Amino acid sequence: MGPTKGVTVAEAPRVLVIIASTRQERRGEPIARWFTEYARTRSDVSVELADLALLDLPPLRESTPPMHADSRDAGAADWSRMVAEADAFVVVCGEYNHGYPAPLKNAFDHLFSEWARKPVGFVSYGGAAGGVRAVEQLRQVAVELDMVPVRRQVAIHRVWAAFGADGQLSDPPREDASLLLDDVVWWADTLRGARAAA
Ligand SMILES: Cc1cc2nc3c(=O)[nH]c(=O)nc-3n(C[C@H](O)[C@H](O)[C@H](O)COP(=O)(O)O)c2cc1C
Repeated sequence: MGPTKGVTVAEAPRVLVIIASTRQERRGEPIARWFTEYARTRSDVSVELADLALLDLPPLRESTPPMHADSRDAGAADWSRMVAEADAFVVVCGEYNHGYPAPLKNAFDHLFSEWARKPVGFVSYGGAAGGVRAVEQLRQVAVELDMVPVRRQVAIHRVWAAFGADGQLSDPPREDASLLLDDVVWWADTLRGARAAA
């Protein structure tokens, strides 16, 4: 049977998973790769991975704040396109001195409207606190960028003990990741419809 007339099947929302750490031998990369592969087992979401270490994103140096800029730093053009094309974000972020890493803030600050009215979820990791202090700060930044930070999150505590000899997470937090994705997909669908109607 062909498609039913008058019924449109929406494309799965596009989620951009962002690796916040730019350090050598960072834990963020295998965690983000695991999360991305896990998310790709779902049919209700389309997932891309963005690695801040691979983007040519200089420290912000424009004279005009991004929300008023007609043009952007040339190095930010790819980043602008990636973020604009996404319907939602999942930031994979470790905790650095009870905060989040500077390259992530720089990546947020380079853009403005590209983030707006889209959900963002967090996969954090660190020591005893599992990166949750960094995420609490990120939630404030997200709201100022007009994003919707979702309630559920993944937090990996004692990250140095979370990996096996193969360099992969020995007990990946699938259940928390699944709940986080449920939230992200719900908001992504809802806000995409609302943006289109506005
Ligand atoms: C500069 C720096 C500061 C850190 N500060 C904290 C901290 O305040 N709390 C914490 O739980 N872990 C802290 N850590 C441990 C990191 O969360 C851990 O090394 C993590 O793997 C960093 O992410 P990455 O490997 O993806 O770069 C710190 C690590 C670095 C490099």
